[in-house]
Amino acid sequence: MADQYHRLFPTEELAKNSSKPVEVGGHNILVCNANNEFYAIENQCTHQASKLEGGRIRNCFISCPLHGVRFDLRDGHPKGELTKIPVKTYPTRVVDGYVEVEVDS
Ligand code: FES
Repeated sequence: MADQYHRLFPTEELAKNSSKPVEVGGHNILVCNANNEFYAIENQCTHQASKLEGGRIRNCFISCPLHGVRFDLRDGHPKGELTKIPVKTYPTRVVDGYVEVEVDS
């Protein structure tokens, strides 16, 4: 099976508890560094479609900048009442100091 991981950027380009938007294969993805673990989620809130970039990251959760729904970066599940729909998540890995994300082609 073909390797579908895409190399993105060196790990040091993304500071702890910050995020960076990327576009891979037509997908708008937000790469997040939560305590130096890397996660990738769809860069769109499932409540009212706001972008999630710039959202505060704490302990494996990102908060939507618009109304504050917190999404679990590990599985995309939201906390609270505003939405019950998870955001899509993408597998990540670090190879040779670079963050890579797996996207279906
Ligand atoms: S648009 Fe994200 S919480 Fe409302």
